[in-house]
Amino acid sequence: MNRKSILAISVASIMLVSGPVLASRDHDSNDYYPAPVGDDDFRNPSPEKVELGKNLMFDKILSGNMNISCGTCHHALTDTGDGLSLPVGEGGVGLGVTRDTGSGADAVHERVPRNAPPVFNLGAHSFTVLFHDGRVEADPAFPSGCKTPAGGNLPDNLENVLACQAMFPVTSATEMAGQAGENSIADAAAAGNLAGPGGVWEQLAGRLQGIPEYVDMFKAAFPGDVVDASDITYAHAANAISAFEGVNWRADNSPFDRYLRGDKKAMSKNARKGMKLFYKGDGYGNSCAQCHSGSFQTDNAFHAIAMPQIGAGRGSNSPGKTGGHEDFGREQATGDPADTLKFRTPTLRNVALTAPYGHDGAYDTLRAVVEHHIDSVNALYNYDRSQAVLPSRDDLDALDFITMDDPDRVAFIADHNELPPLGYSDKDVDRIIDFLNALTDPSSIDLRSDLPRSVPSGLPLAE
Ligand code: HEC
Ligand code: HEC
Repeated sequence: MNRKSILAISVASIMLVSGPVLASRDHDSNDYYPAPVGDDDFRNPSPEKVELGKNLMFDKILSGNMNISCGTCHHALTDTGDGLSLPVGEGGVGLGVTRDTGSGADAVHERVPRNAPPVFNLGAHSFTVLFHDGRVEADPAFPSGCKTPAGGNLPDNLENVLACQAMFPVTSATEMAGQAGENSIADAAAAGNLAGPGGVWEQLAGRLQGIPEYVDMFKAAFPGDVVDASDITYAHAANAISAFEGVNWRADNSPFDRYLRGDKKAMSKNARKGMKLFYKGDGYGNSCAQCHSGSFQTDNAFHAIAMPQIGAGRGSNSPGKTGGHEDFGREQATGDPADTLKFRTPTLRNVALTAPYGHDGAYDTLRAVVEHHIDSVNALYNYDRSQAVLPSRDDLDALDFITMDDPDRVAFIADHNELPPLGYSDKDVDRIIDFLNALTDPSSIDLRSDLPRSVPSGLPLAE
């Protein structure tokens, strides 16, 4: 055990002897547990929309070079993520941890700078803030219903924030569009033409309009709205994708859900102990639920917890520095220095299935990322790089630890940490992990039926 935690524990044990804090820890009251969730908490789109979305999610027709789908990074066989710390975008070949960085002129130009998050439960009304930095956010002040980097360019027929999100991956050179010069969608994206004539979204709609099987599916999914092929817009596609994600990847039947609905035997004794530690706290004034609050374990807010920075970052720059190989998280969305290095608190539903963890996938096991929280600054300084899951290529590898190799930058991350050392013992951590395992919905363990066998474009599904 390190010095800081010994200090925290000894201060804590004094408090412990003096009474009320520990007394409340031992008292069994359920007041601090969240309410159960159910149908009313989720959107309920039509089966036709869901079916269309399932095809679009896995169809490479939505990428400039027709070589990658949304599903490549959010795959049903890798629990709605890709199993990697940082994704390999368009140009890469293969799926999950076997994906490589491609070859020849098609090879990827860089790693995608952030971990591909899981997509479980995002069809619940309460998920109003998307991406690790929250740059897509439900906001009725905008005609589209969302505040996003596209500002007023977003179409106004988007149905929800998850649909707003689906407008963006197709516009990213690294993720789906490809490099300028490779195809006309990439050219439009590079020129910043998303919404205009000949822009990314219009070109994609044009591709879909030309595939009769899709036209029929769009008509069925949007009756009265899509009457002819020419009525199809990319926003309709985004709406359908959001319907698929929300319905098929809903995951609210875990032992924890069943416990909250009244089945007190649904969770093991150890998981119940862990739940109490998680929601009620370490006995010394802190709890996991300070940030991971509510039924989905997130406050939808942003915190700096000294997560190690791996990969080439997103070009953020700390004062007096020039490398730009950092990712300042929320600050990139708001421009507010008070947000430097803050990332959105992730939901912990199905978390046992969705390694690696953190906005850049720095931790490969649940235990490692939970232990990071116990003494975050110390964990940052002792970060074990061998757990990063990154397909190797010399020029990419050279940037993977560029921030962690610079003592000033590591100190900068440490200085911004706002998570105090937590007073949970090793045994408490074991119980908390038992609780986190009870957040797994058994129906999410085998997602093979979420994959279409073929897609209307006729493009191959593998990779
Ligand atoms: C090359 C990999 C890649 C592809 C392809 C991709 N994504 Fe993602 N996805 C990511 C990454 C990385 C993030 C996080 C980015 C960030 O926070 O800045 C993300 C974030 C998301 C989120 C937000 C999750 C959350 O909790 O905030 C959703 C939803 C999502 N993607 C759906 C899609 C859809 C739909 C498509 C296709 C239109 C798609 N993705 C294509 C990698 C990918
Ligand atoms: C101060 C707020 C805060 C507290 C307290 C906190 N967390 Fe977190 N947690 C976060 C943030 C923010 C992230 C994401 C950080 C990032 O991506 O860089 C995170 C990430 C995680 C992850 C990784 C999830 C994923 O999908 O990547 C797990 C697991 C986790 N926390 C569990 C816990 C547990 C268990 C506790 C209590 C022991 C706890 N957290 C306490 C804010 C907090």
